[in-house]
Amino acid sequence: MTARTSIHGEWSTRLAFVLAATGSAVGLGNIWRFPYMAGENGGGAFVIVYLLCVALVGLPIMMSEILVGRRGRRNPMDSLRQLASDDGRSTVWQYAGMMGILTGILILSFYSVVAGWALAYIPNAASGIFAGATAADTQAIFDDLTANPWALLFWHTLFMGMTIAVTVRGVRHGLEKAVRILMPALLVLLLIMVGYAMRIGEFEQAVAFLFRPDFSALGPQGVLAAMGQAFFTLSLGMGAIMIYGSYLPARTSIPRSAVAIALMDTAVALIAGLAIFPVVFGSMLEPAAGPGLVFVTLPLAFGEMPYGSFFAVLFFVLLVFGAWTSAISLLEPVVTWLVERLEFTRVQAALLAGGVIWLLGIGSVLSFNAWAEYTLFDRTFFQMLDDLTANIMLPLGGLFIALFAGWVMTRKTSGGELAGEPGWFYPTWRFVIRYITPVAVLAVFLNAIGLV
Ligand code: PFF
Repeated sequence: MTARTSIHGEWSTRLAFVLAATGSAVGLGNIWRFPYMAGENGGGAFVIVYLLCVALVGLPIMMSEILVGRRGRRNPMDSLRQLASDDGRSTVWQYAGMMGILTGILILSFYSVVAGWALAYIPNAASGIFAGATAADTQAIFDDLTANPWALLFWHTLFMGMTIAVTVRGVRHGLEKAVRILMPALLVLLLIMVGYAMRIGEFEQAVAFLFRPDFSALGPQGVLAAMGQAFFTLSLGMGAIMIYGSYLPARTSIPRSAVAIALMDTAVALIAGLAIFPVVFGSMLEPAAGPGLVFVTLPLAFGEMPYGSFFAVLFFVLLVFGAWTSAISLLEPVVTWLVERLEFTRVQAALLAGGVIWLLGIGSVLSFNAWAEYTLFDRTFFQMLDDLTANIMLPLGGLFIALFAGWVMTRKTSGGELAGEPGWFYPTWRFVIRYITPVAVLAVFLNAIGLV
């Protein structure tokens, strides 16, 4: 048994880890991305494939990431290199970690721009602008914001600043405390929204849309999108969960933690869907409206409810906090890499990485206005980044992690990290991660490019 420790410290308890990882998982992916992806891909069939991917692909990979992180105790690249050399295997596996670090940089660059929308909506909501607004009004408010590059740049800059500010202090202190309060609060607020949607909107139509599968509406690209969503929402395939695993105390149960994180993440996404689609159908809006969906429909609901401006402010504050706890986990892998490999201080590393990501984010800012016409494969810069990372880089990173945990690590090493579990657990996990998960990921890929 190795007794490595991370130079960045450790979570105080298992709960702290679960909350931090849930903070990473729950974010814009659940409340912004999930509803609009489901809306664009026909609803029910997308949701079912997404749930299957969470269970068969996401969960086993999450356990593998935590396991590799805790065993390696370093940034994703060096953890993979270390474990490969511990077991006498090729250190070429470290490049899977490198790709993960790069993926995090790309995701955070556009994620911060969307989080900036949520920030911008806080003063918007407080001004009472949504009160009594029609669907056309809320659409116009959203369009005005995205058409203005300076406004987007301002909010993007503020959000990156907030993310860097937490990262320089280290994950443990600010974050552990924040997630303990913010995650339950977000859930309570979403439940209130669902209650409202049940009373006012077309709830049954929404339930049918989300849970009645029409597989003819999906197609291979839709299946790939559902798998991409599973990776994105669970923060898998880029080392975020791996780096959080590297701060996990030695004796905590990995499978139990992973199941708790995945359950909470899935619950939040489904609840968000049940809060949003009744309003969409009730106001005759288009479910396939794309990235603006949540920013147009929810304000509509707020505009009609008593104390709507108050709830709207609260909602966007919590959305920002959800995004914030995710953004920190997107920045952490590259920061630890800079600290451990290049011997930067944490402050230098956070500023440098954050600065590069901020710069890249300007591309996404402009893709909603000045560059809106420049498309590749019919996608703007922002859409390209979103698609490329969620649908290709995260699943590929996840595939490498599955192959690493299942085939490269020896039974002795991976078994050592899962030793406290009931007897059936290890052989089951190992079978799934060796055969089921990689085959599923590959099948979805090959299907999407038309080879299967
Ligand atoms: N899981 C986050 C969300 O759903 O908003 C986004 C994310 C965070 C993706 C961290 C990937 C990641 F590594």
